[in-house]
Amino acid sequence: MASLEEIKQDILSRVDIIDVVGQYVQLKRNGRDYKGLSPFTKEKTPSFVVHPDEQFFKCFSTGEAGDIFTFMMKVEGMDFMTAFKTLGKRAGLPVEDMLDRNKGRGGPNKERLYSLMGGIALHYRELLLKDPRAEEARAYVTRRNLDGEIGDAFLIGYAPEAWDTVETWAKENGYGDKELELSGMHSFKERDDGTRSHGYDRFRDRLMFPIRNEIGRVIGFSGRILDPAKSNAKYVNSPETTLFRKSKVLYAVDLARKAMVESRTAMICEGQIDVIRCHQHGFTNAVAAQGTALTTDHAKVLKRSADDILLVMDSDAAGVKAALKSGEVFLESGLAVKVAVLPEGDPDTILEEQGKDAFEKILNESKSFMDFQIDVLTGIDDPTTPTGLSRITQSLLESVVRIPSAVRQEQFLMGASQRLGISVDALRKDLEKTVQPKYAQDRARRSARAENRRRDSVPAEVYIRPSTHSEPEAALLRLLLLHPETRELATTYLRSDCIGHPTVLAVFEEVAHSNNPNHPERDAFLAILSAHPDCPDGLAEQLSISQPDASTEMGGPMEAMHDIIRRLHIERIKRRREELTHLYNQSGEIKRQRLWTEIAQITRQSKEFEGNNWGKASDLIRIIFGTDQEKPTF
Ligand code: CTP
Ligand code: MN
Repeated sequence: MASLEEIKQDILSRVDIIDVVGQYVQLKRNGRDYKGLSPFTKEKTPSFVVHPDEQFFKCFSTGEAGDIFTFMMKVEGMDFMTAFKTLGKRAGLPVEDMLDRNKGRGGPNKERLYSLMGGIALHYRELLLKDPRAEEARAYVTRRNLDGEIGDAFLIGYAPEAWDTVETWAKENGYGDKELELSGMHSFKERDDGTRSHGYDRFRDRLMFPIRNEIGRVIGFSGRILDPAKSNAKYVNSPETTLFRKSKVLYAVDLARKAMVESRTAMICEGQIDVIRCHQHGFTNAVAAQGTALTTDHAKVLKRSADDILLVMDSDAAGVKAALKSGEVFLESGLAVKVAVLPEGDPDTILEEQGKDAFEKILNESKSFMDFQIDVLTGIDDPTTPTGLSRITQSLLESVVRIPSAVRQEQFLMGASQRLGISVDALRKDLEKTVQPKYAQDRARRSARAENRRRDSVPAEVYIRPSTHSEPEAALLRLLLLHPETRELATTYLRSDCIGHPTVLAVFEEVAHSNNPNHPERDAFLAILSAHPDCPDGLAEQLSISQPDASTEMGGPMEAMHDIIRRLHIERIKRRREELTHLYNQSGEIKRQRLWTEIAQITRQSKEFEGNNWGKASDLIRIIFGTDQEKPTF
């Protein structure tokens, strides 16, 4: 699937050179760089320098220099492939598996997908500038002051009201149906006789914003509606594809890199038009997530260029909530966080209506994340009452505990102490007595869960995903399609290993991680499904044909979902048992004992799931998932 070079880039983006070198060399910070004694020679004065920004080392004694691969080869005396695999493992990537598949069936070529996406972006741009059908779009772009240079820089384009803009362009430029499907830009439908009809473009009559990766290659699109009366979805985004992974995407990260590195600060906005407007006015360190919450993956990307985060958030309730959540993610990743609260509107409207200076003034008045939190918390609880005050400090300490640096923790506590009139000592005692142990426990539980997931899913050699979907799997998709209100139930009680079929799983995850409350809309859902590279024969059709809604027989959609969840867990256990049995047959005595214990345990679990008893089943699932403490909300 992936080429060596792509995997290499993937590893480079996941593994930090400071961590790798740090295992061999005691590094000391030296400005932006790190310094230490060369591991390649015996020396007394440190001449070994690591540049985290460039992810590059240089040894001034021996003249050696390079990236993590060169370092591992040199320090461990490994050949390239061994260093590659070692670091791949460290990055958590199934490197050999990835390379193998690459050799195997000549699957999709990422390089071609990149050029397909880039070509479409240019095509959309040209349509916006020249096509007669883009009259209205051009007027819109002018009205919003997005034409000219800034339009070129962000490659703003237009997808006309047609089903085949992308299809026609791709055919003319030598791309095949499969590539078209994998790009997420176009879906085909299958006829009853199995032949394919013309499909439909995902983006129609929308202003198009290409989304690029860190090195400026187009990986996806976001399309904005021109006329709000025509659709209720203001933005449509690319689906998850080989190239487009929403949880990592930062809009404009390629254009913002330089300014982020120079100022060591990343400015995070909520919308892409906000980002564009910021760049237009010289705030070129602005980026945005793509319609999702900010994640630790985003933090990782930003950390390579910046130390400080400036969250620029709308002042509405959603903006505040998002700022609180993102702020904690960044704190936990060791970044310093500031918040600029906009009095009204978004960066776009402020810059357009009040100008650069007004916006700059707001940025200059940004406050530390702690002050922001205290402002929010004191708006909810009254700090002059004992209960109010202890609730406020409790919430604050839950942020403090995430900060990895002791010095930063101390600063935070001192600030909080001043504002709340409580001694630093008292705060620290509470932190150590109650908050820290709970945090440690949560962390342990989280990592145990991650470990479980890892163990349950080491599918590489043993675990073979079935080639046909099962009956409860089809029922799951069907129910989600007909009754979106069952989605939360499904995402709470199902985990990726509950679904065996890869396409069903991919579609389920797409739905589960969508932040659009109306999703799945029937069309979007079917588009995702049929666009999937290996959509099982007839599954999309099976779902689209109007069959009777089975949930009425079950007493309602929720009850039907309970039943499906239960059956999916039985299937999960069955697969796991096969996998364990397979391992058992290959293992030595000691390992066999451990495997046997697990086999016995899951056999018992399986029995528990068999009776049609949702109370019992849901309790058990919460225990298995480790979510038994956090009661679900329904
Ligand atoms: N978004 C999305 N899907 C939606 C709505 C929003 O992915 N249905 C994302 C988009 O990336 C958007 C951001 O959330 O840029 C912020 O949404 P919003 O504030 O509604 O849009 P603006 O960027 O302000 O766009 P405009 O100024 O045109 O209203
Ligand atoms: Mn806006």
